[in-house]
Amino acid sequence: MEIIIQPTPETASGIAVRIIARLLREKPNAVLGLATGSTPLRLYRELVRQKLDWSRVKTFNLDEYVGLAPAHPQSSHSFMWKNFFQNINIARKNIHVPDGEAKNIPVFCLRYEKQIRAAGGIDLQVLGIGTDGHIGFNEPTSSLASRTRIKTLTARTRRDNAGFFGSEKKMPHHVITMGIGTIMGARQILLLAFGRNKANAVAQAVEGPITSMNPASGLQMHPVAKMVLDKAAAAKLKRADYYRWVYENKPDWQKA
Ligand code: F6R
Repeated sequence: MEIIIQPTPETASGIAVRIIARLLREKPNAVLGLATGSTPLRLYRELVRQKLDWSRVKTFNLDEYVGLAPAHPQSSHSFMWKNFFQNINIARKNIHVPDGEAKNIPVFCLRYEKQIRAAGGIDLQVLGIGTDGHIGFNEPTSSLASRTRIKTLTARTRRDNAGFFGSEKKMPHHVITMGIGTIMGARQILLLAFGRNKANAVAQAVEGPITSMNPASGLQMHPVAKMVLDKAAAAKLKRADYYRWVYENKPDWQKA
């Protein structure tokens, strides 16, 4: 795993923008995996400002709340359109977000996996991380080999995200999420984490054992995984000085 520690969420997001902009220059028909939540907001805002060409890019979102219609203000669909898709020149047919209203969820999930394969697989997967180490909505004890499926949110995640819904009562209990195995299939991982409340989850994911109790720790097995952190999210890393040195002394050809 490559750990990139930055002073602020702004500078960290700037690095993520450069990584994605480079990918799109090298591969204009790239396939991106995308996340919702507060973490990637700056990334999306800055990508919009860069006026990149999205006309041939395909996207697959990680997750959607079960039972929410695409038009629901808290759905992943709405989030992505409002914060990103409506502001770039992406083709509607190239956008994929799990269908929270799917009648037959297992069949839908198999089809989502098939669509990812048919697109040639995900080139770069953007991730946030939950305070319990979840990626996508793969909560602790999720199989590290899991594929897209229905999951039940933990009380902690429902508490963490209640703000988006106004109250915990209004939050769905279930989600459709890409599995950890699905995420691991991406050719490159770009995980962003900001703020003190992510510091424990980040430290366990990077320096702890690989365990389904911290799903992000499974990324230790990914050959091209970058974690871009602000100072607060990196605060509990024991080897922070080493990661900083490595990043600052990279040869030019290796820099993002
Ligand atoms: C959302 C997702 C989740 C979030 C995580 C952090 O698509 O995959 O894993 O990334 O819950 O959420 P924020 O960024 O709101 O702290």
